[in-house]
Amino acid sequence: MTQHQRLLIIDFGSQVTQLIARRLRELNVYCEIHPFNNVTPAFLTEFAPMAVILSGGPASVIDEGSPRPPAEVFDMGVPVLGICYGQQVMMHMLGGVVERGTGTAEFGRAYVTPDDKTLSLLEGWFKDDREQVWMSHGDHVSQIAPGFQVFGTSPNAPFAITADPSRRFYAVQFHPEVHHTPNGAALYANFVREAGFTGDWTMGAYREQAIAAIRAQVGDGKVICALSGGVDSSVAAVLIHEAIGEQLTCVYVDHGLMRENESEEVVSMFREHYNLPLIHADESELFLGKLDGQSDPETKRKIIGGLFIDVFERKAKEIGGADFLAQGTLYPDVIESVSFSGGPSVTIKSHHNVGGLPEKMGMQLVEPLRELFKDEVRALGRELGLPDSFIGRHPFPGPGLAIRCPGEITREKLDILRKADAVYIDQIRKHGLYDEIWQAFVAILPVRTVGVMGDGRTYDFACALRAVTSVDGMTADYYPFSHEFLGETATRIINEVRGINRVTYDITSKPPGTIEWE
Ligand code: XMP
Repeated sequence: MTQHQRLLIIDFGSQVTQLIARRLRELNVYCEIHPFNNVTPAFLTEFAPMAVILSGGPASVIDEGSPRPPAEVFDMGVPVLGICYGQQVMMHMLGGVVERGTGTAEFGRAYVTPDDKTLSLLEGWFKDDREQVWMSHGDHVSQIAPGFQVFGTSPNAPFAITADPSRRFYAVQFHPEVHHTPNGAALYANFVREAGFTGDWTMGAYREQAIAAIRAQVGDGKVICALSGGVDSSVAAVLIHEAIGEQLTCVYVDHGLMRENESEEVVSMFREHYNLPLIHADESELFLGKLDGQSDPETKRKIIGGLFIDVFERKAKEIGGADFLAQGTLYPDVIESVSFSGGPSVTIKSHHNVGGLPEKMGMQLVEPLRELFKDEVRALGRELGLPDSFIGRHPFPGPGLAIRCPGEITREKLDILRKADAVYIDQIRKHGLYDEIWQAFVAILPVRTVGVMGDGRTYDFACALRAVTSVDGMTADYYPFSHEFLGETATRIINEVRGINRVTYDITSKPPGTIEWE
C-alpha cells in the first residue's frame, strides 16, 4: 500500500464516484475508492484514512437492506464528508430523518444560498451570495442529526449543506465533484485542508516509491513486457527499466495492423533513445494470414488476441522465460464497481490485452500504474522524460486497424486506410486541434461508391472520419469540426489517397455508438 497520506472514498454506486477521486488527486491527495461492502472495521483500521468521503448512490436509505458504511467510520476522529446518498446515510445513522421524495425531487442545476458563512468547508464560497450546484436526488433529509447545523439551503433542499464542525462531519445534498458545480473543487480543497493533508501525492514522489516497490517485488527475477507504443505500456516499461535495467525485456508485436510508420517510430524511440532491451517481432504475415476472409468483428478480435498470446509466449521462450509480466493496468481498470443488479454485464466487445498469459505461463504481474489515472500516467511519463508529442498521443486499440476496417481485411484496404489516416491526422495537427480531441481516426468502409474525377468514372471505397471528445473513453461526443475543416479534409483525402472517392463524417456519440467501428 502507498506510503502517502490516504483518503478513503466509500462507494455506494454513484455514476460519478470516480470524479471525486479525480478532484482529490488534482489536489495532490492520494485516495482510493472501495465499494461499501468491502469496507469492514478491520479494513478501516488497516487503511487508516486521514478522512473519509461517502459517495452518492442509487439506493434509498429508507429501503430495508440499503447500503451502509460501518458505524466505526464515525468513531475514528477523522473528518467525514457525505455526498447525496452519503449525506442521507450519514444523517440516518447519526440520528436524523430521511424521507422519501414526494414530488420535490431535484435533478440538475440548482442554487444554494448561505445560512451561515463561517464554516471552514465553505471558504471561497458564496462570493455572490449563491452558488450553482448539481443536484440529483429523490429522497431528502427532513430532520438533521443532533449536533448538526444548517449552512446552506436550496429551494428543494432545506438542508443542502449541513455540518457538525466540532466532529468535522460535513454533509451536502449536491455533487461538488461534477463540472456543473463550478466551485466544487474549492469545497474539496477546504475539506482536505481541514483533514490535515499536505498534498504529498506528486509524481516525483510516486516515481521514487514505485521504483523501490518494483525492486522489492522483482528481486533478481526477469520481467517481460508487451510494449504496444501506447502511453500506458510505454510509461510502465520506462519506469520498470529505470528500476531493474536489463532484467526487463520488452516485446513489440507488429501484427501488420499498425498505422503508417508506427512500428519504426516506436522501435527506434525505445531501442535507440531509451536503450530498452526490445524484441521487434514482425508477425504481420501470421496475423494477416489468419485474418484472411474473416469479417465478423468478434472473430477478428479473438483471432488477434489469441495470436498475440502465442507470439508473446514464443518470444518469451526465446529469451529463456520470465518470472514476471509487466502490464500498464490503470486505476480505473482496477476499481471494483458496485453492481446493485448483481448480474454480469454484457460483453460489448472482447477487449484485447495480454490477459490469460500470467496463469498460462506461471508468471506474476508487475503493474506499477495500478494506482494512477490516465492523466497521472501522462504526468509520470513527463517526469520520466518521455517527449510531450509521445505522451499526448491519442489512444490506439490493441487490435489496431483491424477494427477500423469493417468486413474483410485485405492488404489493399489497409494500405488505403493508412494513407487516409495519415492525411486526416495531419489536417488535425495543422489546424491545432489534436490536443482537443480524445481520439481521431479513419475507418474504411466495406462499400465502393461511384464518383467522377476529371472526365472519368471512379468506383472506389468510401471512408468515415471519426473524432471524439471524452474523459475516459467510457462515454464520448463527436467533435464539432467546422464545415470548412471537413470540406478541406475530404478534398485532401480524395486527391491524395488513391482508392477513396467518398468521405463521410461520423456524428454518433457513445452511447449509443462506440468509439471504434467494431
Ligand atoms: P470503444 O470502441 O469500446 O472504445 O468505445 C473505447 C476505447 O477503447 C479503445 N479500444 C481498445 N483498446 N484494446 C485496447 O487496448 C482493445 O481491444 C480495444 N477496443 C477499443 C478504443 O480505441 C477507445 O479508446
